[in-house]
Order: sequence, then structure tokens, then C-alpha cells
Amino acid sequence: MLGRKILQIERVDSTNNYVANLMNVGKIEHGTVILAEEQTQGKGQRGAQWLSKAGENLIFSIYLDTANLSVREQFSITQFSSLSVVNTLKKWNIDADVKWPNDIYVSGRKIAGILIENQVKGERLNGTIVGIGLNVNQTEFGELVTTSVKLEKGMFISIQEVVFSLLEELNSTWELLENGQLEQLNNRYLEKLWLLNQPALFKDSQGEFTGIITGITENGFLQVIRNGVPKTYDLKEISFVKN
Ligand code: BTN
Repeated sequence: MLGRKILQIERVDSTNNYVANLMNVGKIEHGTVILAEEQTQGKGQRGAQWLSKAGENLIFSIYLDTANLSVREQFSITQFSSLSVVNTLKKWNIDADVKWPNDIYVSGRKIAGILIENQVKGERLNGTIVGIGLNVNQTEFGELVTTSVKLEKGMFISIQEVVFSLLEELNSTWELLENGQLEQLNNRYLEKLWLLNQPALFKDSQGEFTGIITGITENGFLQVIRNGVPKTYDLKEISFVKN
């Protein structure tokens, strides 16, 4: 069961790093969760920082034993974690989408980010850290186009309640993964994918274009129709231009 063990820490460099250290000394069991009030070096995707006011948001990392997954199946972890966050938000009647691959948005504003770090052994995964930063009660974000549960609902939300709901969702979605129901997982992910089948502005190495996202390949690449031609893109090869 995910979340059977929960460690609560006041201050840490990064909860993902904390899990990585426990992995390195072989002292962590599947489903262990680390929660922190504050991170001094919160990590975002692509080397970015993750900023979060102390005590106001969910700072969560979970260790997953992913030895049963091959490297080629690793996108299923992205799908598992993004869907769990989207479904958690549903409990507060917040309708969130996934901006490929795993940013969580509400009406064009980011509400949560996910950082997945895999340990790989040959063709297989050898353990995964899923780090989730979800804005709960923070209301000031400076220039960032960001939102939080409190901004969406107009009231204070207990972070503990969010943790419980998230764990419920993680557990039920993990079952799909464990049972090999990857197609169902993919279909659910596609239902939540922002801009699916809608013309939108993108940018690739050849410049800006209007394209249509048509799906995701098995290994998580984005499928886009560009000037009538179907293309697939890896993470660094395409960006969304503000629509
Ligand atoms: C992103 O750039 O969108 C990903 C942000 C991930 C932030 C979370 S907060 C908990 C965990 N610990 C980290 O250092 N990062 C992740």
C-alpha cells in the first residue's frame, strides 16, 4: 500500500533528494512518503527551481518499487502521477488538465508540478521517486501564472486532507499499473490531456506553427499534426506557445 509509511519533515533541501538518499543506503520500502513544510532547494523540471512558501503547500515525494517496469514503460509513471493529482483536485470540484507531459493546470494556470526521477538498471527500472508540488494555500506568486486550491475555492484547505485524498488516488491508480492495464491508464490520461484534438500554437526547431495534438506514443512522445503531416516530439523538441 502506498503511504503506509509517512515521514514528516519540517525543512529539507528537497524531498526527492531525501528519498534518493534513503534509496542509496537501501533503507526505503515501496510506497514510503516524505512530506516537508519547506524545501531549501526544491527541484523543478529541466533543472528549474521549485518555489513554495513554507507551510502553505503540499511538498510530497513517494518512493515506488518499479522493478516490474521496463524503461520503455516509464511514461506510465508520468500518467499514473498526473492522473492522481487531477483526480485529487476533483474532490474540491476543481477541474484540472494535464499539460503534456505532467504539468497540472486549471484554466491556463499551473497548480501543480511533478518531478519523476528513475533509477535504471539495464532495460529495467530499479526504483522511482515521484515528487509532487501542489499549491494549496499560497495566494501570492509574483509574476508566475499560477494558481492554488485556495485561489480556486476561496477558502483555506487542510494540507493533511489533500495528502489523504492524494494517497487514495495514488493507490487506486497504482492498481491499474500493477495489473498491467496500461491501455486504460493511457485512455484516462488522454481524457485529461490539455489541447487534445484542438488547433493550437506550438514551436519546434523550424519555428512556430498551428498544430493539433492527436495523442501520445507508447513511450510518451507527443503526436502532433503539423501542416497536415503527423509528427512525434520528445520533450525538448516542442514547446507550447501561449494561446
Ligand atoms: C515542475 O517543475 O513542475 C516540477 C516541480 C516538482 C516539485 C516537487 S515538490 C516535492 C518534490 N521535491 C522537489 O525537490 N521537487 C518535487
